[in-house]
Amino acid sequence: MSTTESAGRRAGALVFYGATGDLAYKKIFPALQRMVKSGVLDVPVIGVARQGWTLAQLRERARDSIERHGGGVDQDAFDRLMGLLRYVDGDYADPATFAALRRELGDAPKPVHYLAIPQAAFETVIAQLNASGCDRDARLVLEKPFGTDLASARKLNAVLHQCFDESSLYRIDHYLGKETVQNLEFFRFANTFMEPIWNRHHVESVQITMAEPFGVEGRGAFYDATGAVRDVVQNHLLQVVSNVAMEPPPRGADGEMRRDEKVKVLKAIAPIEPATLLRGQFRGYLDEPGVAPGSHTETFVALRLEVDSWRWHGVPFYIRAGKRLPVLRTGVIVKLRRPPNVAGVPHDANYVRFQLSPSFEIALGATVREPGEPRGHPLELLAHHQHEGAERDAYAELLGDAMRGETFRFARQDYVEEAWRIVEPALHADDAPTPYEPGTWGPPAAEALVPGGWAEPREKADHP
Ligand code: BG6
Repeated sequence: MSTTESAGRRAGALVFYGATGDLAYKKIFPALQRMVKSGVLDVPVIGVARQGWTLAQLRERARDSIERHGGGVDQDAFDRLMGLLRYVDGDYADPATFAALRRELGDAPKPVHYLAIPQAAFETVIAQLNASGCDRDARLVLEKPFGTDLASARKLNAVLHQCFDESSLYRIDHYLGKETVQNLEFFRFANTFMEPIWNRHHVESVQITMAEPFGVEGRGAFYDATGAVRDVVQNHLLQVVSNVAMEPPPRGADGEMRRDEKVKVLKAIAPIEPATLLRGQFRGYLDEPGVAPGSHTETFVALRLEVDSWRWHGVPFYIRAGKRLPVLRTGVIVKLRRPPNVAGVPHDANYVRFQLSPSFEIALGATVREPGEPRGHPLELLAHHQHEGAERDAYAELLGDAMRGETFRFARQDYVEEAWRIVEPALHADDAPTPYEPGTWGPPAAEALVPGGWAEPREKADHP
């Protein structure tokens, strides 16, 4: 895209709803300061909320947020951000709120409206944007979840499309803004040695683990209505699967063609088989505030998928994710087939490992001959690739894309619907999940899902 073209697509204002809420406090204000600092943001930023606050209160909140979650106030960037910040207070159902917003927006071209609010309020806000004319030439940024199953996702998409074209919709999955997740795709296609082994002939299985040592952290009511499959598998972990399994986009591919490749991966995946799904719940979950008595919501899930494409046919993809596991670690292990006729190769050698969180690592599992012995010794060839602050940057990156009108790092409607189709059987499982002890790798039965067992992250437990 030429500079003139990209300048023509640049948004003239950023409006964010839920300005006094938790997401704004933890992620958005820090991202805004970072965007101002890097020169991505120099247009009016309008917070909207129904809290009865003043602009001065919102400024105070922004300072507090950036101090606690944004690595501290950068005086110059912060002052500039405060100069851009406006506030509209009012109920989302009240046309007066949007009349006030209309006035604040003035003639700003291509305004970005960012709904950092619960899904239940989307329809109301969209109708008001339309009635007030604030949707003219506008873009809409949404936070997950995009529906709670396939039917509700379709319904939501229909509501969105009443006022916005798909090309004006920016569905945030913050995993798509993570450097480490993007590096998965980049590393595959940038390194010649990867392509010949990256297929069913050389890959035995793929394991994806998202382990978190903490519980539901005061989000009991949200989590209880959500569960691990909706919270992280349908979105974040299927994005990881796509990056591992996608075909290289053709030379010169634009963002849409790259998104097409990701959708193709999902299209090749059949819905989860209940027989290859294990749901767990950590002991103590039922005592968390906001959790329903006797809740059957899973806090752990382990499952098997297959990407039935030419490249991947017959290669199982195992996914597990859970709260209150022994470590904080998200990663992928691509296990390669054992070489024939070499004695003494350990079972767990021969793999490519990507650690996606908390930092990025790439490792090759290999075997060297044990000196003086006829057997091999496993060894990792390890490269660390540090991304300072990559976690927090994801929001600044994604909002920056929305301001520039770049849609590649957002989830497209067809992608979202395919993802729901895949996990649908897991959403209907309402049998009691298997209990597990906090600090363990989920129910012991999860081990049996993977022939040869799960490859544990290398480090020992580093969280209580
Ligand atoms: C969120 C989930 O989308 O992603 C949380 O709602 C989860 O439950 C979080 O902890 C993980 O994201 P990250 O960036 O910390 O790996």
